[in-house]
Amino acid sequence: MSNSYVFYQGKIVDESEVTIGIRSKAFNYGLGCFEGIRAYWDEEQKQLFGFRLKDHYTRLLQSSKSLNLNIPYTADELSKWTIELLKKNNCKRTTYIRPIVYNDAQDIGPNLSKPDTKVVIYCQPLDKYAGKSELSVGITSWRRLEDNMLPPRTKATAAYLNSALASLEAKRAGFDEAIFLTSGNHVCEGPGENIFIYKKGKLITPPASDNILEGITRDLVMQLGKEELGLEVQERSIARTELYASDEVFFSGTAMEVTPIIEVDHRVVGDGKQGEVCKKIKELFFNLTVGKNPKYAHYCTPVY
Ligand SMILES: Cc1ncc(COP(=O)(O)O)c(C=O)c1O
Repeated sequence: MSNSYVFYQGKIVDESEVTIGIRSKAFNYGLGCFEGIRAYWDEEQKQLFGFRLKDHYTRLLQSSKSLNLNIPYTADELSKWTIELLKKNNCKRTTYIRPIVYNDAQDIGPNLSKPDTKVVIYCQPLDKYAGKSELSVGITSWRRLEDNMLPPRTKATAAYLNSALASLEAKRAGFDEAIFLTSGNHVCEGPGENIFIYKKGKLITPPASDNILEGITRDLVMQLGKEELGLEVQERSIARTELYASDEVFFSGTAMEVTPIIEVDHRVVGDGKQGEVCKKIKELFFNLTVGKNPKYAHYCTPVY
């Protein structure tokens, strides 16, 4: 179900007023980039909180710069528009926000040099993305794109074909989701989420140099691991079989939030249930996303 108002080119308009032409480079070649943001509804406070809006829009501006797309708004302006949009749609549930910046030039050829840049933001209700609270995942035969091919850091629309192929393969093989390896055979990430392992008191996640998207949730999970749980947190390459031998494995991401992985390639992880570290991080996460932890309240922008 979509909401009826969207942000488009500096205005909030009815969604039916926005169309994309069949000649658009965004449609023909996937020339664009996007973000995924959540706003969390808290029933107790009857309040909706935009989560880390400025961080998401800062990443969008960085992605756009790599793709030679010029956004005529600052991260603060886009954050304000997002709050306006949520209000206009009268969103009173946890909501997913999708800003897209795209090249709408209509001539033939995958050309980034003279873009006709458009900015659109839409939103829709989203509760649990995975539809399950514990996941079984499989390593995909598709390799993660590299920074020098189609940089995962840019959250480019076109790069999500790589994600979609991996997910399709994993789901057809009976898994809930895929895990990518890099071309150097290091564990990379899921199609739309970062990955963590926990073993012997250490929380470990692949480094930025292993072609991951540097997730905003990943950043928060590392902070929570270090500052709230007192764990040693490492960013280092992970080998495939380390996943099988870990005490815990979990995903992090805006859509996926913090979700435990209890099986990898049909090998049970730990004792086959959500682990204690993942559970504690989830509790901290869901408490702070609705502004209930003063230390992290600056991440939450109240809408009403
Ligand atoms: C490929 C990929 N990795 C990781 C993530 C998680 O990033 P974030 O926590 O910023 O949502 C996403 C989601 O945007 C993603 O698409």
